[in-house]
Amino acid sequence: MTMKLLSGDPRLVCELALRPLVLVFWSILGTKALDNGLARTPTMGWLHWERFMCNLDCQEEPDACISEQLFMQMADLMVSEGWKDAGYEYLCIDDCWMAPERDSKGRLQADPQRFPSGIQHLANYVHSKGLKLGIYADVGNKTCAGFPGSFGYYDIDAQTFADWGVDLLKFDGCHCDSVTSLADGYKYMSLALNRTGRSIVYSCEWPLYMRPFHKPNYTDIQYYCNYWRNYDDIYDSWESIKNILAWTTDNQKEIVEVAGPGGWNDPDMLVIGNFGLSWDQQVTQMALWAIMAAPLLMSNDLRQISSQAKALLQNEDVIAVNQDPLGKQGYCFRKENKIEVWERPLSNLAWAVAVRNLQEIGGPRSYTIQVASLGQGIACNPGCIITQLLPEKVQLGFYEWTVTLKTRINPSGTVLLRLDYI
Ligand code: GLA
Repeated sequence: MTMKLLSGDPRLVCELALRPLVLVFWSILGTKALDNGLARTPTMGWLHWERFMCNLDCQEEPDACISEQLFMQMADLMVSEGWKDAGYEYLCIDDCWMAPERDSKGRLQADPQRFPSGIQHLANYVHSKGLKLGIYADVGNKTCAGFPGSFGYYDIDAQTFADWGVDLLKFDGCHCDSVTSLADGYKYMSLALNRTGRSIVYSCEWPLYMRPFHKPNYTDIQYYCNYWRNYDDIYDSWESIKNILAWTTDNQKEIVEVAGPGGWNDPDMLVIGNFGLSWDQQVTQMALWAIMAAPLLMSNDLRQISSQAKALLQNEDVIAVNQDPLGKQGYCFRKENKIEVWERPLSNLAWAVAVRNLQEIGGPRSYTIQVASLGQGIACNPGCIITQLLPEKVQLGFYEWTVTLKTRINPSGTVLLRLDYI
């Protein structure tokens, strides 16, 4: 069977012949993702920040303040509403969970009013639901919202999180004295987490805080972190999504090649299901986050979400693109006449293609693609089956290498396609 494939497919022969060369290059460059066995596909879950921020007022807003009740409710819904089954596994606390001071032994502690049962109890609860718990801390002297930072306490904090049963750490980069202590702190915490012996996904913001001073060293970053933020915080606005995508295309030469199993670029949370994006813009976020092999961390209110947004976030075909085991990040390869075309190689010689309409005036626009130009010229050679996944699923059928494919895209929307090789 294997022999048949090899002799029948010249591309496979070529790929296999080059493999030793690639491996040699790989080891010379020393580029290797964090080897903790975690985040082999982009992390999926829920993170409180964009939607709930630093709401401390449980008197006035008991349902929206950062409290154990909020996380328990989200945990319940992640299971009962199909999020867990769709792949959303990590329930993550962001900033503002801490008490203003460490305890007498120097350990971080949760705010006693808002988390009266403590983080360990919350972790047990989350685990009892078959989910995992994420927490937040900061490499510097204070978190971005002014709570105690981990500088000088990396070992204690890593151990505390492990003791509590935490499964993921988002490590922010505010209030750090220098770029050296920033880099050293991110590295140290990675090793400290490892030394606890507990499997803890490590999310960094190291390149974001480094970039104003130094070009980030992605060899180091991917060695120490499971995923990392490169760019500004996401907002619940189309402007914000556009800025993130523009930054990504401008910097894709540098960042696309460093992503892979164990280490991912993080363009920040999914804001689908909130207030700021139209339907087509939500489709664009979902489609492009799948193409970018981005962590899928929703920040929304699972108690109040439209069925349309829920179906988009739980779309199994789109999630399958995001979670594809080949683990290669996609890129934008054509921009013309206010249209962008992105593509991402998938396992089994399949490809995902996203066609984005950047024009924000007028109605839907048609865009015709030469099938031969997709997937670096090989996706449909000699033919492929094309399925439109978004905005809705449509079987488009068999396409030969020589033909064209006509798409129609709404203003600020995206058409996401999957090309299966035959
Ligand atoms: C920074 C991070 C955000 C969030 C806030 C919390 O701005 O980039 O994602 O964690 O801090 O204060």
